[in-house]
Amino acid sequence: MTPAAAGALAGLADRHVHSGKVRELFAVGDDLLLMVATDRISAFDYVLPTEIPDKGAILTALSLWWFDQLADVVPNHVVTADVADYPTDLAPYADALRGRSVLCRRLDMVPVECVARGYLTGGGFTEYVERGSVCGVELPAGLEDGSRLPEPIFTPTTKAPVGEHDQPMDFAAVVDEVGAELAQRLRAVTLDVYARAASIAERAGILLADTKVELGRDSDGVLRIGDEVLTPDSSRFWPADSRQPGRQQPSYDKQYVRDWLLHESGWDRSGPPPPLPDDVVQRTRQKYVDAYERLTGRDFASYLRTG
Ligand SMILES: Nc1ncnc2c1ncn2[C@@H]1O[C@H](COP(=O)(O)OP(=O)(O)O)[C@@H](O)[C@H]1O
Ligand SMILES: [Mg+2]
Repeated sequence: MTPAAAGALAGLADRHVHSGKVRELFAVGDDLLLMVATDRISAFDYVLPTEIPDKGAILTALSLWWFDQLADVVPNHVVTADVADYPTDLAPYADALRGRSVLCRRLDMVPVECVARGYLTGGGFTEYVERGSVCGVELPAGLEDGSRLPEPIFTPTTKAPVGEHDQPMDFAAVVDEVGAELAQRLRAVTLDVYARAASIAERAGILLADTKVELGRDSDGVLRIGDEVLTPDSSRFWPADSRQPGRQQPSYDKQYVRDWLLHESGWDRSGPPPPLPDDVVQRTRQKYVDAYERLTGRDFASYLRTG
């Protein structure tokens, strides 16, 4: 969000309920939330000091598109993203909200990050190298970074408070946390979302390596998908034609920024990360735009014009 846009929302301060790393949440009555995606970017659990222009709009546009694609797989939290349909007391903020906000049902979020993996990489690969399993799921020997798994697996993590790292959970830990029935539903829904999304992405020449969804229950107890879905912040997307197991894959996700921070910025990870130079900002923005355009087949510039 530009400083001007953030300033434009100052009038909502008394309704502010939560600041995440990327999103701001405001109360709308008792049952609804206004979720605003800023242009902040996080990596290694830090919010970076530099914003990526339009990122909040790209994430919002992509999530809304995916919610539609998944509508018959799992219900979602969206009420409307059309600012013209927002309650009239939000009208003064329409310009700051258009394109980057969603009016949604307030959910009681499940305290588990629901991750599905179809390919092995990142923290999952590290865990596999150490133990031969990921989140308690045994895997065959000989897999490499980027290997396709025999079948997609559920690899949940804890939802760590800001400043702490999410920890892998095995299925028994999820059962302890939420009970056996809900644990089974979380696993089934997460794997169903993965399967649907992976097949849609594949048609666009993109492999969905892994993805995280956040689920919660509405006031009627219905399990719904909330937050954002299948964005470059929550998922790893790889161009299908260049996958080469045994190395890190080129991607349409945050990997570019992570790599710059780790290998080029000189950051030693002992404190907050440094600002991103302008060329890194522009390349990162382009990766997010490319992910949106490739997956949806839509033009981002026209989304920006029409919302
Ligand atoms: N419909 C919803 N109801 C309640 N909380 C939600 C809903 N959708 C998303 N959230 C929560 O809002 C926050 C979104 O902010 P975000 O910046 O993504 O947070 P984080 O730093 O945890 O990734 C998350 O804590 C998420 O669980
Ligand atoms: Mg989040």
